[in-house]
Amino acid sequence: MSGRLNGKVALITGAASGIGKRSAERFVAEGAKVLLTDIQDVKGEEAAAALGGSAAYRHADVTSEADIAGAVDEAVRRFGKLDILFSNAGIPGNRTGIEETDIAAWDHSMAVLLRSVVIGAKHATRVMRPRASGSIINLASAAGLLPGATPHDYSTAKGAVIHFTKGLAMELGESGIRANAICPGYTLTPMLVGGLGLGMQAVEAMGPRVDAAFAPVNALPKAGRVDDIASAAVYLASDEAGFVTGQALAVDGGVAVGAHWSGHRGRMRGVMEKLSGDPA
Ligand SMILES: NC(=O)c1ccc[n+]([C@@H]2O[C@H](COP(=O)([O-])OP(=O)(O)OC[C@H]3O[C@@H](n4cnc5c(N)ncnc54)[C@H](O)[C@@H]3O)[C@@H](O)[C@H]2O)c1
Repeated sequence: MSGRLNGKVALITGAASGIGKRSAERFVAEGAKVLLTDIQDVKGEEAAAALGGSAAYRHADVTSEADIAGAVDEAVRRFGKLDILFSNAGIPGNRTGIEETDIAAWDHSMAVLLRSVVIGAKHATRVMRPRASGSIINLASAAGLLPGATPHDYSTAKGAVIHFTKGLAMELGESGIRANAICPGYTLTPMLVGGLGLGMQAVEAMGPRVDAAFAPVNALPKAGRVDDIASAAVYLASDEAGFVTGQALAVDGGVAVGAHWSGHRGRMRGVMEKLSGDPA
């Protein structure tokens, strides 16, 4: 199917890489005009250039309100309006024990992962509300549903993104604007594989070994791909989702749904072994 976003204008943050880059490609393929933004300017320019006249790139650091406001204004100036904001930019956070938490680093994570989403919504609404139409999509995470697996700053920010998105939906619905979050699970991007000490090329060369490695973690025995998340973004951006707002759509292979069935049985066997035998 194509043309699902015909005539729509989108702004995507963090669009030079990973999920944001693939979403820009998919949005354009579905008929949208897209302003890509990022702080990786060379990669961002290249990504936009590859999409031809339906896309442009602009530097925007999501920790800066002026940068985000400027990007919203440029989308309107260049393409005439703004229908879709995809607040996607992110960083992995800092894994430390609570006693070692560096509060400046915590504040930076919150600025990139949470405050940016609030600023984006503020400025997108500024131009969407007068037109009584729009779709705001915030990239949260399965980590926002299930804490523990990722750093505290990351899961806290993502949980707050989900909560904020729900409140936003309740404010903006009567103005014709929808707000939803996407909660990806383990998805093969530079962020995830970098955290595993690998590069994308190395991971791609591994073939089926990659899915086999993630099989014990997820309900579905595989890792996520950028297209899995971009597909959800296309859906939420499109009129097909016209009755969908305030949702946290998990696209996570089931990782945040519950305990992995066979893994849990193995752990319970360990419990039974420890409890068996002489009660003394
Ligand atoms: N990959 C996963 O497994 C996974 C899982 C759940 C959620 N997510 C989320 O998906 C989103 C996209 O991440 P990805 O996996 O595609 O990673 P990625 O590293 O490929 O892309 C993230 C992009 O955000 C940009 N960025 C970082 N800081 C920025 C800033 N201050 N201003 C503007 N841009 C900035 C980076 O330059 C990069 O291009 C993030 O919000 C991430 O938290 C990823």
